[in-house]
Amino acid sequence: MRKRLIAGNWKMNGSKPMVRELVSGVLGQLDQGRSAEVLLIPPFPYLPLVGSMTENTPVLLGGQDLSRQASGAFTGEVSGEMLAEWGCSHVLVGHSERRSLHGEDDALVAAKFQAAQAAGLQPILCVGETLEEREAGQTEAVVRRQVGAVIEAAGIAAFARAVVAYEPVWAIGTGQTATPEQAQAVHALIRAQIASEDATIAGRLQILYGGSVKPDNASDLFDREDIDGGLIGGASLTADSFMAIYKAA
Ligand code: G3P
Repeated sequence: MRKRLIAGNWKMNGSKPMVRELVSGVLGQLDQGRSAEVLLIPPFPYLPLVGSMTENTPVLLGGQDLSRQASGAFTGEVSGEMLAEWGCSHVLVGHSERRSLHGEDDALVAAKFQAAQAAGLQPILCVGETLEEREAGQTEAVVRRQVGAVIEAAGIAAFARAVVAYEPVWAIGTGQTATPEQAQAVHALIRAQIASEDATIAGRLQILYGGSVKPDNASDLFDREDIDGGLIGGASLTADSFMAIYKAA
């Protein structure tokens, strides 16, 4: 049985007062009896504060991105080693906003995936199609290409220490959520692609859904066989909505 994972990607949102209120609210609603795990992914500057507030709790900490490099003259970049030093266990790689706004291609995403694992982090590989690609019937081809690029670079064994997040670009921040059927279909494709190389790894791989997950749609999504949790954006910015999704897992 795969553990459910509810991850909150705060994107470029936060302030010290907001972080203190949000994390206190999350901790106050954490139910140690639940098996689902909570992962908080704040902007880099708030990692020390969130890390100190969640120390000695089951709440996990993650980064929103990382450099493909471990150190050196790369102004503005943050290494996986630095994230690990501040207590991160996970890091997003290939989020659609990095792909679209920063020109991150499959090769760079694969390199970041490998850099994350070299630093002892679990990469959360984000994949998903645009509306145009879906309407053109290219969803499977796009997702297979994005996952395949990482398998090619890192090898299938690397997926034993990774998470995949399916985030249809047309559902991110739009309020237009993929139906449970749409999401399940793509999750099943991803799991089958991994299984074609290693069935054991595929069976254990957490595949999260992201894209307008809200308290009122979370349980229908999480009930599906191949949906192992969510990667939450907007709804992760208030403790009540984020924890309502957690309680649906
Ligand atoms: O990484 C999660 C994010 O892309 C989803 O955003 O606001 O649609 O939940 P949102």
